[in-house]
Amino acid sequence: MCGIVGYLGPNQATPFLIEGLKKLEYRGYDSAGIAVFDGNVIRVEKSVGRLNALEQLVENDPPKGHVGIGHTRWATHGRPSDANSHPHTDCSGDFVVVHNGIIENYLHLKEQLIAKGHVFTSETDTEVVAHLVEEYYQGNFEETVKKVLAAIEGSYALVFFTKHEPDKIICTKQDNPLVIGLGDGENFIASDIPAIINHTRKTYILSDGEMAVVTKDSVWVTNRQGVPVSKKVFEVNWDAEAAEKGGYEHFMIKEIYEQPKAIRETTLGRLAKDDSGIIFDELKWTKDDVAAIKKIAIVACGTAYHAGIVGKYYIEQLARIPVEVEVASEFRYRSPLVDEKTLAVFISQSGETLDTIAALKEAKKLGARTLAITNVVGSSISREADQVIYTWAGPEIAVASTKAYTTQLIGVLMLAIYLASLRGTLAPERTAQLIQGLKQLPAQAHELLEDVEPIKTFAQQYGFNEDVFFIGRSLDYAVALEGALKLKEISYIHAEAYAAGELKHGTLALIIEGVPVIALATQRDVYEKMLSNIKEVKARDAVVIGLAMQGDEEIKKYVDHTIFIPAAEKYLAPILAVIPLQLLAYYAAVTRGADVDKPRNLAKSVTVE
Ligand code: AGP
Repeated sequence: MCGIVGYLGPNQATPFLIEGLKKLEYRGYDSAGIAVFDGNVIRVEKSVGRLNALEQLVENDPPKGHVGIGHTRWATHGRPSDANSHPHTDCSGDFVVVHNGIIENYLHLKEQLIAKGHVFTSETDTEVVAHLVEEYYQGNFEETVKKVLAAIEGSYALVFFTKHEPDKIICTKQDNPLVIGLGDGENFIASDIPAIINHTRKTYILSDGEMAVVTKDSVWVTNRQGVPVSKKVFEVNWDAEAAEKGGYEHFMIKEIYEQPKAIRETTLGRLAKDDSGIIFDELKWTKDDVAAIKKIAIVACGTAYHAGIVGKYYIEQLARIPVEVEVASEFRYRSPLVDEKTLAVFISQSGETLDTIAALKEAKKLGARTLAITNVVGSSISREADQVIYTWAGPEIAVASTKAYTTQLIGVLMLAIYLASLRGTLAPERTAQLIQGLKQLPAQAHELLEDVEPIKTFAQQYGFNEDVFFIGRSLDYAVALEGALKLKEISYIHAEAYAAGELKHGTLALIIEGVPVIALATQRDVYEKMLSNIKEVKARDAVVIGLAMQGDEEIKKYVDHTIFIPAAEKYLAPILAVIPLQLLAYYAAVTRGADVDKPRNLAKSVTVE
């Protein structure tokens, strides 16, 4: 998730580009750049780091010109650096592009272009697009862009400019947002409304497959075949702060609703088209590599640690390799039994959590092979680990981690299937079932988010209870831990999760009349046992909210309320089951008037011991 801007009009482009990028920094902030045409050449200025690094770069000599494009980056391919910053140009510098998204087939296209003599200056997928434009341009920019779009695969919001046709900017989108701000004698392009809201409230929201040719006086929208599309003006009535949240009240709820996309992006290019397996170009492990792994240690903190617990179930059950899951702050001082036969996996959204970094260094010192699963390209953990699997959830602003958790579950599930395929512990039909299930997840998550009213009602009804219990068995227990943490950290309700079978060994003493118990029952192989645990707490007059699969009529007999998730296979259920728990925590916090995005005593990235 990056931020893109563009301008054509009578004014200097640079001030709008910089100001617009500032408003989009929540979309990505590891590097930035602008390209402005001064009537003769396209001047490109870009810099690694926060936007103010770029500001300082151009402060004394801002690029002159009335047309320009800009970008603030959230790295996916190629770590943050000046060279990998956008805008990207072709060999001549006459064509320039900015991009938000992932070009899935970029490696293949890059090899073809290099064979034709193109010289690349970055590691990014985006630069391929600039060279493709150069390769195809025959004097008609629109036709060239159409040819480029026919050649690339993936998700994108793309903005193109060339000095050969300087009166226009061409932009298009597939799965990533792009809006055009309609001005008077000037027009604006941006990934999102905050960048243009101070200049105009009249916008065109581009839809997938649409392409717009924008001049300072006109906006011409067609589909990719060139067929004109009539666009309705969307009048923005949000204030700037709300706009940053995309019209949502808080970043947390915005990020909860971004999960279908985050899940799709994190699987992009990693699920074999024929469902035969997982593609990890970033690992390239052999059967021998995996045979050498005698034990796996998953190490992390907080929500990432909870993802590790789910990972243990996945890897042990699918790949049959023993897995230990550790909180990082304990691992590093426990002289852990880790050696060269251990694969140590470090999970971290930010990639900057100090305890996890130190545990990683400890594991390396003990000879372990290290793998990071992180959401931030170029983060300390990604640099320290031998290899990295990136989750592509985009920037996560709210302190309470939501979309990063679901993409971490996707990460550990793909890792489990990958290891299982190399160890031959998973039958091809079973592999195909899981891959097909992963491909259906974005739509199922979307379906789940379509109706949240019942969950909102439960949160308002029980949001003022000071003690809440979560219970579950097997993978449901692992998800219950995360549900309890979410409720604790943003609503300040004392919530605890328990393995349901463990209650009768003590905690059941705390279950009294009216205490809310969230009971997860999505795992068929322990379903009957789970029902008996529900009967145990019901017998003590607890109020039980059951979380179950659609079509499960049985559970209704034993609980007070039921939350249903789309029916999914056992290993995919956790990725769906956590979403209602995130919503429950969110609406409970809103009901209690808590500062949802910045809960007390917490920080987004804990860089202290
Ligand atoms: C989760 O909502 C919290 N923000 C916290 O527990 C977090 O998961 C933990 O600090 C680990 O952060 P990381 O994933 O960035 O390493």
